[in-house]
Amino acid sequence: MIDLRSDTVTKPTKEMREAAFFTEVGDDVYGEDPAVNKLEEEAAAILGKEAALFVTSGTQGNQIAVLTHCRPGQELLLEAESHIFYYESGAVSALAGVQTRTIHGSKGAMDPQLVRSAIRENDIHFPDTGLICLENTHNRAGGAVIPIENMRQIYDIGIENHIPVHVDGARLFNAAAALGVPVTDFTQYCDTVQVCLSKGLGAPVGSILAGDKEFILKARKWRKRLGGGLRQAGMIAAPAYVALTTMRERLVEDHNLAKSLSDGLMDINGLRVVNQVETNIVVVDVAHLQMTSQAFVSELEKEGVLAVSFGPTFVRFTTHHQVSKQDIGRTIDIIARISAVPL
Ligand SMILES: Cc1ncc(COP(=O)(O)O)c(C=O)c1O
Repeated sequence: MIDLRSDTVTKPTKEMREAAFFTEVGDDVYGEDPAVNKLEEEAAAILGKEAALFVTSGTQGNQIAVLTHCRPGQELLLEAESHIFYYESGAVSALAGVQTRTIHGSKGAMDPQLVRSAIRENDIHFPDTGLICLENTHNRAGGAVIPIENMRQIYDIGIENHIPVHVDGARLFNAAAALGVPVTDFTQYCDTVQVCLSKGLGAPVGSILAGDKEFILKARKWRKRLGGGLRQAGMIAAPAYVALTTMRERLVEDHNLAKSLSDGLMDINGLRVVNQVETNIVVVDVAHLQMTSQAFVSELEKEGVLAVSFGPTFVRFTTHHQVSKQDIGRTIDIIARISAVPL
């Protein structure tokens, strides 16, 4: 099977498995797991923040950020197709008791002036705006990189209005790799950031939430409240360290494969590549094949290629380190064949 469903399907490399096997461990709830401590220190340094917290997933990292920044009854500003709004099971309302106010972005980027005008005035009728969330790269916008300048403008608006900015950076290292810049070029324009280690970087489990020391101290308590205080967590932190320190540079290879896939699919009659590929995601519209995305995905599966439905007629393909150039060539051939056969 050529698995292009997501970069989350990656399995740990030999080096990651060995790191898990040989690592020293301790009780991380007591702060005594050396592998977790080393990972958190390194992640904070790479992200240019004072402190970092190892969490089990991107969703947990984002939710802890919202819980730590906000109080119940506040309002969260975020992009209309962002993961926190679209794919986290309504957790911000269920857990943090905040309501959302969404802004439609262009390629995932919110217009700073719309963000400014969505901030609530001080009025007894209104909720207080508690947090602004950005997503970089933006998943539903096809892995689009949110420009650093856009982040700077929104961060400045946040500062002017005393509203913190959190970045869902599940794929922020893809954004940095795509622009060829250090990740701190992005993180300088946010208060807190969540980055996933188990997506393109290939770790089996885990994300990092980073911010200033005071924030991370409070976040650690929220993680404990959510049952996320783990004991000998070095077993997963050690491979996550390998992912963080050795897998970032190679993300451009995934981007090149996604570009090749997109170029190949553009030549196929009846298919429309929806996004301009910047990172590791390609989205196609199969509407002109008179097929639903579900039908297209199941035809693909019969031929040995896995992809995901991304809307009624949209299908998403994601490249990662377990996909080869040959896999992409085969995928293009298979899709050309499926698209040529009227069903
Ligand atoms: C942009 C974005 N944020 C957050 C997440 C959540 O990560 P996890 O699956 O580790 O909870 C994802 C997962 O795909 C994502 O794409």
